[in-house]
Amino acid sequence: MSESQLARLERAHASIAKRAGAPAPIAIMLGSGLGQLADRVEDAVTIPYGEVEGFPVSTAPGHKGAFVIGHLEGQRVIMMQGRLHLYEGWSPRDIALAVYLLKRLGAQTLIVTNAAGSLNPDYDPGDVMLIEDHMNFTGLNPLVGPNDDEIGLRFPDMSRAYDPDLLAMTKKAADAAGIAVRQGIYAGVLGPSLETSAERRYYRASGSDAVGMSTVTEVIAAGHASLPVIGLSAITNKATGGPDQQPDTIEEVFANAEIAGRKIEAILAKLLPN
Ligand code: 6GU
Repeated sequence: MSESQLARLERAHASIAKRAGAPAPIAIMLGSGLGQLADRVEDAVTIPYGEVEGFPVSTAPGHKGAFVIGHLEGQRVIMMQGRLHLYEGWSPRDIALAVYLLKRLGAQTLIVTNAAGSLNPDYDPGDVMLIEDHMNFTGLNPLVGPNDDEIGLRFPDMSRAYDPDLLAMTKKAADAAGIAVRQGIYAGVLGPSLETSAERRYYRASGSDAVGMSTVTEVIAAGHASLPVIGLSAITNKATGGPDQQPDTIEEVFANAEIAGRKIEAILAKLLPN
């Protein structure tokens, strides 16, 4: 444990603060299939992760990652285009650093989006699930190690990890957009292998409705930094683990991510102005 998270944060912030400009109160993390939202940002300033000091650079081929800062639906936003996943080899503390940096750049609300498989048999691919709560099945926690008291508490409360008032606002925005949404529990797993059928039944028995390989690490960091969170899952495929469970084709997953992604865009269009 060489450099503290706070020192890393200040170094990262100092390296891009001028380019980032005025504070961006709304931070949006784009999951798989939602990358196109970044193209709609007006007066966009794009800062590739590789240009942020101390930000670890991915070695994964074809990895595209950048902060995109500008305006969307009349609000000043900062987007992370290109998620940092644990399965790519990023450490949990690297992922937390990104969340602290969003807050340092002015974020007062974090909107996390992701692609997920459905454990709940009532859900269909293409559905959108508002995340009510999560279960961290990654076995990892970004707060392991020395605590930076300037960032947050040693033992942060997680009983309202997804802000209930913001969740209600998001539900209203979906209604206003005429989009039916689900509301449920997200199970976060490490990946990159998908779950076995037995694991899927186990996650379902845990009370979870959808499963994916992201989000829980970021939301723990946000809870640590007292940054309120809204979570939206794009249901891309079934992960019920029953006898009818079919192997997923990547084409089907992308097609459903796009369908759910358009719904998420419509919800955000109603939500952001508020
Ligand atoms: Cl982690 N699992 C399954 N089964 N489907 C998914 C997923 C995970 N992430 C997106 N779709």
